[in-house]
Formats: sequence, structure tokens, C-alpha cells
Amino acid sequence: MAKKMIRIAPSLLAFDFRYLDKEVNRIIKAKADWLHLDVMDGSFVPNISFGFSVLEALKDYPIFKDVHLMIENPMKYVDKCIANNADLITFHLEALKTKKQVREIIKKVHDYNVAVGISIKPNTNVEEILPFIKDIDVVLVMSVEPGFGGQKFMPEAIEKIAKINQFIVENEYDCLIEVDGGINEQTGKMVIDAGADVLVLGSYLAKNENMKQAISSLKK
Ligand code: DX5
Ligand code: ZN
Repeated sequence: MAKKMIRIAPSLLAFDFRYLDKEVNRIIKAKADWLHLDVMDGSFVPNISFGFSVLEALKDYPIFKDVHLMIENPMKYVDKCIANNADLITFHLEALKTKKQVREIIKKVHDYNVAVGISIKPNTNVEEILPFIKDIDVVLVMSVEPGFGGQKFMPEAIEKIAKINQFIVENEYDCLIEVDGGINEQTGKMVIDAGADVLVLGSYLAKNENMKQAISSLKK
């Protein structure tokens, strides 16, 4: 995926589920680039958000669907994501035991011609993800402990993003850096400066009265 352009991915988790259709249309109208969909299983993370019935309800909306799987055994659910028109499927490195399993899921998603991402939690070292970067489309750096929206940005993420960015630039890899958790106008600027390409925003955008303007100013 082409770099040099900041993409904004509102996280559905923070929006009003009573009005799913209205909220997604509001996100699309505000010119968001991606719709970030947090799937949780109550086991990989200590919370349950929503599952594949919500993805199915959203499958035909005209926006890039960025599925963030915070679940054990992501391989088992690749087909369900594909069936529901995921454009990007991101799983957690920590959810898999072996490098072979990581490679198998990358291959499975790519065999469907869909983009694949790997996410790392705040306590996972950057070095662990580097060997996979040449084969994936997105690295998702968590800047909060996954599981809940509305948490405070962890500044340690900045150094991780900078290291990953340096590695991508030096090797001329075609991989985007996405950041998720506690992003607002201020932390958004910090992560863009460090090399982020995609900003996930939940609470900051959901409570913003003028989402379109907030999105365009985040891109500047
Ligand atoms: C957290 C989720 C995030 C969350 C971000 O586990 O992965 O996508 O919705 O929400 P904010 O922007 O409020 O931190
Ligand atoms: Zn997320």
C-alpha cells in the first residue's frame, strides 16, 4: 500500500450502537479513509466487543474495512472476515505460538488477495515483528493495552513506531504503520512525526461535533 498519505480510521467501538447505520454513514460522510472494527473474544483481551454478525451488517458499506482481531486462534476466523468483505485483516502476534503459524495466516489472507496486518501489544518488543514486515501490508502498534477504548496514550509507542519506520524505510518495504489507542490531535501529531501512516481514533472522533473537520485537521 502506498505511503506518504495519512489515513484516518475511526474505531466503531466508540460510536453509538443503537444507531449503527447512522453512525457508519456519519463516518463515511466525514471522509474517513478506513473503518476500524475491533473484534474481541473475552479471552485474548478482557472484554467482548462484537463479532461477525456486526461485520456482516456492515459488509456492503462503501468504506475500507479494517478488521482488528483481538482474539485467540485468528486463523479459525479468516474465512468469516473474508466472507464479510474485510479489506484488511489484522491479528495479534501474541495470539500465535509459532512463526510457522504466523506465516500460515499471512499466506491464507494473501491467497484471498486481501491485505494482512500484524499487531503488537505495548509489552511486545519491536524486534519480534521485524522478520514479518517484508511480507505484510500493515503493522499495527498498540499505544494502549488492547481491550477498551478511551484509555490514555502510552508514549513508549513513539520509539517503537520510529524503529519500525526506520526498518521499513531502510529496506524499502511496502508496509504501513498503523497506531491504535489514545490518539487525539496532539498524540496524532506525535505518531505521524515518528512515521505512522494510519491513525485509529475512537473516543476523540466519536465525541467530536465536527468529525469531518477533525479528520481533515488530523491529516495536516
Ligand atoms: C482498543 C481498540 C481501539 C479503541 C481505540 O482495544 O483496539 O481500536 O477503540 O479507542 P480510543 O481511540 O478511544 O483509544
Ligand atoms: Zn483496534
